[in-house]
Amino acid sequence: MSLSARAATALRLRAHDALDRARGRNDPLIPPRRLQFVGAGDFAAVGDEFLGHLVDLAGLTPRSDVLDIGCGIGRVARPLAGYLDADGSYAGFDVDPRGIEWCAARYPADRFSFALADLHNLRYNPTGTQSAREYRFPYADDAFDVALMTSVVTHLQAPEAGHYLAEAIRVLRPGGRLLATFFLLDDESRAAMRAQRTSLTFQHPDEEVAVADPALPEEAVAYDERWVRERLDVHSIEPGTWRGKPSASARSYQDIVIACA
Ligand SMILES: C[S@@+](CC[C@H](N)C(=O)[O-])C[C@H]1O[C@@H](n2cnc3c(N)ncnc32)[C@H](O)[C@@H]1O
Repeated sequence: MSLSARAATALRLRAHDALDRARGRNDPLIPPRRLQFVGAGDFAAVGDEFLGHLVDLAGLTPRSDVLDIGCGIGRVARPLAGYLDADGSYAGFDVDPRGIEWCAARYPADRFSFALADLHNLRYNPTGTQSAREYRFPYADDAFDVALMTSVVTHLQAPEAGHYLAEAIRVLRPGGRLLATFFLLDDESRAAMRAQRTSLTFQHPDEEVAVADPALPEEAVAYDERWVRERLDVHSIEPGTWRGKPSASARSYQDIVIACA
């Protein structure tokens, strides 16, 4: 993007933020648009949507201890701040310092913690110094009731993704649940891709792991459902609209996988 196009975008985003403030929509936990690097869609609406999924599908209660893996800039932390009570807690970590610094300065430090992991990700942290393949999450075994990875595995290559799923299960208590979103490759999504009904197309979708853009694999990665089942004790799957499903019959954009600790 050219310098003038970037300046025009920045001005447009600022104008939208100013309009929100003028309309009284100034939630202090919604970051300015220039910092919303976590994906398209309404920041608050997507966060609220996932609070619902965590309650309905992953057994979240106000007393839960929650781990948000790849927490971004607090899209799911925001509704949790109003939902968790004094017995509940939230920990999040991410490779992007902008989100971690922004959140750490705004959430109550007694129950909400945000940690930076300087791990390499070509899409999100190309200058990261360590590999995510061996990264041990900085939390004890059995520390959480619920772990979530919303739109994170979809940006990890297979060795990192497999390791992260194992780490997520390690830090969950017996009876705990992992909610992770995926682009799952199965008969339905492959047929929809052939019929060009999916919102994303992956190269070589018959493989176990497929990427949308080989030049930037971490932009979007899809996994065969069997690959996921080999690594997780899957409790349930909610197919998403990305595979061409009408929104009335899908819970979310990506496929949601609920796994047991
Ligand atoms: C699409 S964003 C989603 C963020 C957040 N989960 C949400 O739903 O708002 C993907 C996030 O994954 C983070 N990420 C990428 N690689 C990571 C890694 N190895 N460990 C932790 N976070 C990572 C990115 O920095 C980014 O914040």
